[in-house]
Amino acid sequence: MKAPSARAVTVRVQPSPAAPAAYDVVIGAGLLGRIDALIADTAPAAACAVVVPDDIEALYGQPVLAALREAGRRAALFTFPAGEAHKTRAVWSDLTDALLAARFGRDSCIVAVGGGVAGDLAGFVAATYMRGIPLVQVPTTLLAMLDASVGGKTGVDTPAGKNLVGAFHPPRLVVIDPEVLRTLPDAEVRSGLAEAVKHGAILDVAYVDWIRAHADDLLGLDPAAVEHLVRRSVELKAEIVAADPFEHGQRAILNFGHTVGHVMELASGFSIPHGFAVAEGMLAEAAIGELAGITEPGSVERLAVVLRALGLPDRARPFAHLSGSMRLDKKARGAEPRFALLARIGESARNAAGEWTHSVDPRVLDAVSSTLRDV
Ligand SMILES: NC(=O)c1ccc[n+]([C@@H]2O[C@H](COP(=O)([O-])OP(=O)(O)OC[C@H]3O[C@@H](n4cnc5c(N)ncnc54)[C@H](O)[C@@H]3O)[C@@H](O)[C@H]2O)c1
Ligand SMILES: [Zn+2]
Repeated sequence: MKAPSARAVTVRVQPSPAAPAAYDVVIGAGLLGRIDALIADTAPAAACAVVVPDDIEALYGQPVLAALREAGRRAALFTFPAGEAHKTRAVWSDLTDALLAARFGRDSCIVAVGGGVAGDLAGFVAATYMRGIPLVQVPTTLLAMLDASVGGKTGVDTPAGKNLVGAFHPPRLVVIDPEVLRTLPDAEVRSGLAEAVKHGAILDVAYVDWIRAHADDLLGLDPAAVEHLVRRSVELKAEIVAADPFEHGQRAILNFGHTVGHVMELASGFSIPHGFAVAEGMLAEAAIGELAGITEPGSVERLAVVLRALGLPDRARPFAHLSGSMRLDKKARGAEPRFALLARIGESARNAAGEWTHSVDPRVLDAVSSTLRDV
């Protein structure tokens, strides 16, 4: 691991009913090497259980373990098989049994090292072990850095669907070391960038413009550009989470691009990476909003320009034949799919009742979809 740089930026996530204590997201190159000092300040614990997927155990699990032990802390590594297929109750059960066998007590903490799967799974272990122990998130994918590690949602998948069993358990601390992105496959980097575009599209037009202007730096993982990206996305996500901690209203805007994106992902048998499906979903939902008279005309084209610059899909494939599955979306009411739509780039739209999701006439979906070509 490289020598830790002294420079780090901190974003404070303010307290809310779902997260009664504020917590910090600390971003800086080389932070993994000095994680013990950060934990000592914010999540003092007698012992740390480092939970990591097997594919990055050697790359990041071992170095985090070594940094903790070098500082004199009792720590052990708990590995699980990588991948969404293992974000299950069975793996939760294996991990909690392993912690019990290793005699980790109520005075220990969980350090979740990895992507969104590790964060959700190890977070759910922290939420439930001994009725809840402190959690430190160390996200190592771009998606987990700028999205999954903030907001306190933890959980596992079940055969009936994704994320159906879980808990709100906010972390005490989030440690982001952008250097780890160097080993992340390029498609995963671009997939994460799609979620950053989403944050800008729903909340901050200047951020969308900044991403477009820095697309090449971001794709090249320029440290200053990545640091700014993670910081701004975390700030925006933290704002929304603070406004709607339990996901009753405004937090729905984070689903922009996801109603259509999810069904595309599902129909592809998950061969389309999540962020690529979200990119197409955002284009489709911006087009739906334009045709429904909710979204400012020209928004689709503005999104396409940014997505193209990032090497993401700049047009959507037809989706109307999938509208049956959209009814199973978590925002759906009865049999009616709901969409988070834009007023314009940088601003989300409420409906006449002041709600953040919209029902859309199925004829609008058909009309938009019929203009699209298969990819
Ligand atoms: N809790 C939330 O608010 C929230 C938000 C968004 C997504 N999620 C969840 O996040 C999950 C998806 O997360 P993801 O996209 O990070 O996938 P992931 O966690 O499966 O990571 C992808 C793969 O990359 C590996 N990896 C991680 N970091 C690496 C690195 N630096 N170098 C090389 N390989 C690395 C992982 O071990 C894994 O095999 C989904 O389960 C989703 O439900 C949760
Ligand atoms: Zn997403």
